[in-house]
Amino acid sequence: MPAVSTDLEKVLLDAPAIQRRVAELGAQISRDYEGKELVLVGILKGSAVFMADLMRSITLDCSIDFMCVSSYAGRGSTGEVRVLLDLRESAEGKDLLLVEDIVDTGLTLHHLTDLLRTRGPRSVEICCFLDKPDCRKIPVKAKYVGFPIPNEFVVGYGLDYEERYRNLPYVGVLKSGK
Ligand code: PRP
Repeated sequence: MPAVSTDLEKVLLDAPAIQRRVAELGAQISRDYEGKELVLVGILKGSAVFMADLMRSITLDCSIDFMCVSSYAGRGSTGEVRVLLDLRESAEGKDLLLVEDIVDTGLTLHHLTDLLRTRGPRSVEICCFLDKPDCRKIPVKAKYVGFPIPNEFVVGYGLDYEERYRNLPYVGVLKSGK
């Protein structure tokens, strides 16, 4: 494991704790989706690391797909999502499980789930690695949550600050002023 980045104030979740929790999520998803047409939909870029670990902890036959979206504030607080990369396969009749690194205001996943529900999937659920429930601007409920966390700026395990720190195998709080 690389040395703790000196840019961090503290480590919030170390690599062994993350691996234990991801294994639990994988086991739970494997039980819940038995007999269904599970498609794991990784939302790039933040979910890349979580997606790679989570899919290997799922013991079911499933497929994977990816989307890349950018969220930006629309009029008022509604927000909108711009799709930069769309699913390659049809969502029709599938059990979509959106894999995200973090749910913060909820705007991205609110709009994304609305969009995907128009495409005739059998179900659309969310699995997020981190959840900041105190930051919601719009209600979003993830079926699976790795860790609820307080409102602190975190990086690592896929999460970035100006595209850096995604490759840290743990999650830390960035020092202010970085
Ligand atoms: C992050 C994260 C979610 C979104 C959550 O993506 O991956 O998609 O923000 O925030 P919200 O709940 O307030 O909408 P970001 O735009 O930073 O892109 P990235 O995944 O490429 O890092």
